[in-house]
Amino acid sequence: MIEKQHITQQNYAIDKHARNKQKGHNSFVIWLTGLSGSGKSTLANELEVELFNRNINGYTLDGDNLRGGLNKDLTFSETDREENIRRVAEVSKILMNAGTIVISAFISPFEKDRSMAKEIIGSDNFIEIYVECPIDICELRDVKGLYKKARNGEISNFTGISSPFETPANPNLVIHTNRDSIKQSSDKILAYILPKLVIHE
Ligand code: ADX
Repeated sequence: MIEKQHITQQNYAIDKHARNKQKGHNSFVIWLTGLSGSGKSTLANELEVELFNRNINGYTLDGDNLRGGLNKDLTFSETDREENIRRVAEVSKILMNAGTIVISAFISPFEKDRSMAKEIIGSDNFIEIYVECPIDICELRDVKGLYKKARNGEISNFTGISSPFETPANPNLVIHTNRDSIKQSSDKILAYILPKLVIHE
């Protein structure tokens, strides 16, 4: 039994707004959702570079990377994916409150889990971007060779093959990585987020 009644929330003088003012830009979470191989990590990397070159604090949380550390105890069952998203949403929130633009790149295939992430982070600071790419193209790319393994039955619960991907109903932005180049895709995202970086007193 976790004794939550013995936990007291501590307040600190320096809040998100103060940190944003010090850094000269707002901070929020850019949540990239999409199939494996849709281009989330590539896009996150491109965005990070663009932000870095503008002297803006950005940091990517990547599904594969976090599953090698913080989330290495989690499988791809529905329950564990939920816990994966809960943890990364909490980490995203911490980094955002510390003044960083967080790029969270996770398949996050379930609508309920994306809603939970939005709830944890706060809807005003949650930008949902659907990195759309048809599954046959992802499978053709098969950068990590995982689709082949999933088809051969070597991986269970594989998103798009043996586990569902629920298309985001109301994303802030949809990016089509099979039509647009990485640069075009990242430019679209930048055009959407750059105005939001400006602090209005
Ligand atoms: S999520 O569904 O829980 O959001 P996450 O983004 O953390 O997934 O991790 C996805 C990555 O794990 C994929 O890009 C792929 O490299 C790898 N992976 C391994 N097994 C699976 C699986 N069964 N389904 C989807 N991705 C998998």
